[in-house]
Amino acid sequence: MNINKSSKVALVFGGTGLIGGHLVKFLLSNSAYQEIRVFGRRLLSFEHPKLRQIVCDFDDLMSATDEMQGHDVFICLGTTMAKAGSKEAFYKVDHDYVVQVAEISKAQNVTQLLLVSSIGADETSRFFYNKVKGQVENKLRSMGFWSVHIFRPSILLGERNESRFGESFAAFLMKGISAISGKIFKKYSPIASQAVAAAMVQVANRLESGVHIYESDVIHDIAGQYDKVS
Ligand SMILES: NC(=O)c1ccc[n+]([C@@H]2O[C@H](COP(=O)([O-])OP(=O)(O)OC[C@H]3O[C@@H](n4cnc5c(N)ncnc54)[C@H](OP(=O)(O)O)[C@@H]3O)[C@@H](O)[C@H]2O)c1
Repeated sequence: MNINKSSKVALVFGGTGLIGGHLVKFLLSNSAYQEIRVFGRRLLSFEHPKLRQIVCDFDDLMSATDEMQGHDVFICLGTTMAKAGSKEAFYKVDHDYVVQVAEISKAQNVTQLLLVSSIGADETSRFFYNKVKGQVENKLRSMGFWSVHIFRPSILLGERNESRFGESFAAFLMKGISAISGKIFKKYSPIASQAVAAAMVQVANRLESGVHIYESDVIHDIAGQYDKVS
């Protein structure tokens, strides 16, 4: 693919979240990108010459279509069942919004799509969360993008403004298990949210066509020095 250095435009969905927040900062400091457009329902708390923020209604994403022209779309959107309040509300964010973002991006000739999915994503799973993640992955990978990169992190580590007891407890348990088991359970060991973000930027700049899936242990390896919580 013929892209000039420092000429890329990145579209980011979920830039106010844990992974998305790190991602936006990495993209802003990456010389391959001239503009980072962050789409969200609220503004980030800082400004930057390369940053353009688009506040939009996710129930009416078509109204943001004109802004959705770029090279790479990064999707880090998501909620939890607890926050959403119901399976339907969770599905709307983690499935419908994500699929709509991808569809509009494709129609706008975006070439690369990078998605944060989850460990265990599987359309045939008995677990609702894993099933939804698997459904989304399958829809996005068949849309005809030049390249699709799907990241399947394990439990995320990082500072949140809210408390998520279940995730914290699971991260504590998995840290213990992976400390004892070493590499065998590396795929399941918790991962720093900034490591996921760093891996996304690295992969985007490899400019590799096709569909690629990165399990959590591979994300650890790609992220290298960023695989720690700060
Ligand atoms: N937590 C984990 O341990 C874990 C593990 C594996 C995979 N994942 C997946 O990784 C992805 C990113 O996770 P994260 O923890 O970085 O996410 P996060 O911190 O919860 O951030 C989610 C992002 O989605 C946006 N969002 C949520 N509901 C929305 C709505 N109704 N309308 C518009 N925007 C909405 C948020 O915007 P606001 O800031 O406006 O709310 C935020 O930018 C998710 O898909 C998650 O399922 C998470």
